[in-house]
Amino acid sequence: MDNLAYNLQTVTDKKSGVTRLTLTDFRNYAFLRMEAGLRPIIITGENGSGKTNILEAISFLTPGRGLRGARLCDIKRFTPAVVDDNYIPSNASWAVYSQIQKNGEDFEIGTAVENIRHDEEEEIGIYNKRIVKIDGQKISSQTELGQYLSAIWLTPQMDRLFRGGSQPRRSFLDRLVYAFDNEHAKRTANFEHLYKQWYQLIKNSNGRTDTLWLQGLEENMAAIGVAIAAARREQIARLNRFIETEPDDIFPNVMLELDGIVEKMLDTLPALEVEDFYREKLASERKKVLYNDNIEGVNRTDFKVFYKKKRMPAELCSTGEQKSLLVSIILAQTKCQILYQGFAPILLLDEVAAHLDDGKREALLIKIKELGLQAWITATNKELFASLKDNADFFEIKNNTAIRR
Ligand SMILES: Nc1ncnc2c1ncn2[C@@H]1O[C@H](COP(=O)(O)OP(=O)(O)OP(=O)(O)O)[C@@H](O)[C@H]1O
Ligand SMILES: [Mg+2]
Repeated sequence: MDNLAYNLQTVTDKKSGVTRLTLTDFRNYAFLRMEAGLRPIIITGENGSGKTNILEAISFLTPGRGLRGARLCDIKRFTPAVVDDNYIPSNASWAVYSQIQKNGEDFEIGTAVENIRHDEEEEIGIYNKRIVKIDGQKISSQTELGQYLSAIWLTPQMDRLFRGGSQPRRSFLDRLVYAFDNEHAKRTANFEHLYKQWYQLIKNSNGRTDTLWLQGLEENMAAIGVAIAAARREQIARLNRFIETEPDDIFPNVMLELDGIVEKMLDTLPALEVEDFYREKLASERKKVLYNDNIEGVNRTDFKVFYKKKRMPAELCSTGEQKSLLVSIILAQTKCQILYQGFAPILLLDEVAAHLDDGKREALLIKIKELGLQAWITATNKELFASLKDNADFFEIKNNTAIRR
């Protein structure tokens, strides 16, 4: 056994995943409890039964807005309007509680939404905030979650990832980076916040703004922007290196590239010089904001994927090929996480069988098994997973409950 295979084996012997999941007032579920093994979990059910909602709930055990990028207020279970005289509207909010296992150690992770009342200058309002508890202790930043659990998801929306605008590709890439650099989530959120402030300030004042204030924002944006670009570059290089040395035998190997002005400059210049350049560029482009022109920078970077053997850009590949390229990326990412982070991510695969031919679907299941991964897989047709008969947990969702099959 070579070194890499040995290293993978030593970590995959210790498994990670969610062993118990409890949902309260989450989407279509008033209450749901599921117990699962550290192996594939196949969730079947009719359209609209609540399969994707379970995957979404698990995605909330990691930082961010979950696999649908949803607004917190949409997640709380809608109860039917007026029913009868006994109908009592519920004020409770939603919650996801889980028991997780990471390399043989057990933890409890819970997340819920709190209605927070704010009382400012005689204006009273309520806003929602997601709170997270690990082993009963409230944590101040979701970033900490990354040390306990990591999830990688593939959703049907991502079938169009390579064809549409760059934003979803950028988010996909940034999530791959978070797993290795927990601060990356904070940086991207900060950058977005600063950019909005900068943009609004210029727009609202028609270009006649307090320049000191703008300079301050530009300085911060340049510093954070270069850190974002550097972290993305590092992750792309890590994945390309891994694929180069450990090409997959079934899924088409990919070559990954970044198409962004800041990332490109880091090829040849030291970070401090790129930071100066970015700051000056932002300052010189204030006018562009007034004319609604695009401002190049880390908020517009694109993530380019190529089918390596064919030298074909992903957007020109067939639907099934594009899906296979995505699987290829998440398999490489998973293996890198196991190797370098020391624990396996959970895979959340929503309708993953769509567009994959039988050979690819079976190959993916074998790989999941070989790597000892916990994978939550949804499907409308259970038969597609018959080969996992004795090696998976099967659930059917019916009437808002999960029935073990
Ligand atoms: N906040 C909410 N409260 C109650 N029900 C909701 C809420 N948000 C979504 N739903 C409902 O939950 C149901 C299940 O949605 P989900 O996306 O999980 O279905 P699915 O089983 O994945 O279906 P498909 O096979 O079509 O993908 C839908 O009917 C949807 O309208
Ligand atoms: Mg679904």
